[in-house]
Amino acid sequence: MIKTISLDPDCHLNADANRVMDLFRRAGDYARLESGRDPDLDYLRENFDGPPSLAREDRFTLALEEGDTLLGTAGYIRNFYEPGEWYMGLLLLDPAIRGQGYGTKLAQRVIDHARREGGSRIRIAVLDANPNARRFWERQGYVLERTVPGDPEGDGHIRHVLKQELGRAS
Ligand SMILES: CC(C)(COP(=O)(O)OP(=O)(O)OC[C@H]1O[C@@H](n2cnc3c(N)ncnc32)[C@H](O)[C@@H]1OP(=O)(O)O)[C@@H](O)C(=O)NCCC(=O)NCCS
Repeated sequence: MIKTISLDPDCHLNADANRVMDLFRRAGDYARLESGRDPDLDYLRENFDGPPSLAREDRFTLALEEGDTLLGTAGYIRNFYEPGEWYMGLLLLDPAIRGQGYGTKLAQRVIDHARREGGSRIRIAVLDANPNARRFWERQGYVLERTVPGDPEGDGHIRHVLKQELGRAS
């Protein structure tokens, strides 16, 4: 049975580090798309550490677990860019369970958490090179806020920042 659990936001550094890395390796297609390399600890840090200005209590991680194996993670943060605004980090599933609704459920859990705390909006940045994921987010009500051009000094990817208003009307 696949369960949804909360992990410590520093799960990439603590006792869960090995199984987090194991998931990221099984789902290495995404790291290779984004960074051009296999996932390593630096890659995990880029995804879980959050902005340096952010308090530890504003970082969260949900995971899908079957036995001792992790089949997915969703990192997300609170009070970014502004107080009351939420930001979805990387939602990453093992390829073996993609396309079966687990991603939608995990993404909904994040929205539920943000709504419970009165969050005003939530954002996600999606790579232009990942149109399936963009469709996934748009189906859940995210809309384009802005497009950030690729930085040739960075990873070069064009990113679309999508947002969803969390008020009652949305
Ligand atoms: C994107 C992702 C989280 C979606 O979770 P999921 O459980 O596969 O998605 P669901 O089953 O809830 O919904 C299916 C939809 O997800 C989208 N999707 C994106 N990537 C997909 C993939 N590799 N396999 C299957 N569906 C994918 C499709 O739009 C699909 O809809 P479709 O059947 O109309 O094409 C998951 O596929 C994944 O981990 N992909 C790799 C990492 C990634 O791209 N993360 C998002 C970064 S912004």
